[in-house]
Amino acid sequence: MVEDSLSPAAITDGLATRFIGQEVTCYPSLPSTNDVARRKARQGAKEGTVIVAEEQTAGRGRIKRRWLSPRGSIALSIILYPPLAYLPSLIMVASLAVARSIEQVTNLKAQIKWPNDVLLNDKKICGILVESDVRGNKVDYAVIGIGINVNLKLSDFPRIAPLATSLSREMGSDVPRLKIIRGLLAEAEKLYLALPDGDSVFKQWRDRLVTLGKEVQVSSGEAVHKGIAESVAADGSLLLRRPDGSLLKIVAGDVTLRR
Ligand code: BTN
Repeated sequence: MVEDSLSPAAITDGLATRFIGQEVTCYPSLPSTNDVARRKARQGAKEGTVIVAEEQTAGRGRIKRRWLSPRGSIALSIILYPPLAYLPSLIMVASLAVARSIEQVTNLKAQIKWPNDVLLNDKKICGILVESDVRGNKVDYAVIGIGINVNLKLSDFPRIAPLATSLSREMGSDVPRLKIIRGLLAEAEKLYLALPDGDSVFKQWRDRLVTLGKEVQVSSGEAVHKGIAESVAADGSLLLRRPDGSLLKIVAGDVTLRR
């Protein structure tokens, strides 16, 4: 078992960031790190503050799904105060940061499934939930919630086992969560600070999407669309070429690859 205790000092000491991860609070157990982060953001927490939980008892996923965060996984939320124009890019920042950090620590190649699931060998290793409050054209706050399956035995979680994996399963041994967290905070800051420079973050995210060029089924609200995932727009939407030749822009949804 690798030495793996998470504490604010262990996460922040020597962390080469200006603000992301310079303030960290760790909890043994929380319903959801995103809920605590939202509360702290409303109270004016510093930009870059990170909330970490050893386990979540009511972790939330996209589309009102539940997210399992037992001990051994990573559950954290980052508080940001971005300009409105950067809001759609936060899923790109987060998924790229997670993918890069996993690669740095494990040497495994990570992929991104539109919009922001991180996969290893075609199975989900990480989910990301970005939540924000916007008033008029001002973002009050944004919270990036990140859940990573790190040291988990998938056989203990039969409901997710067919579609999910964990770092320990892919590596055959436990992986230090601390290294993954520090890596992803540093990468997230680099990418976030690069947003004013143009579309380089968008291009890196687009180029990692396993979804593009594939035949997919996209559930979006009540609707289910089928077609070829042709490309993505700079705001993160998926452009789906339908069998009748029309191009559909999908802002949010859940993609299944059709083989
Ligand atoms: C998804 O794939 O549906 C997104 C899952 C996001 C899970 C993370 S874990 C940390 C943060 N707190 C939550 O309640 N959810 C996010």
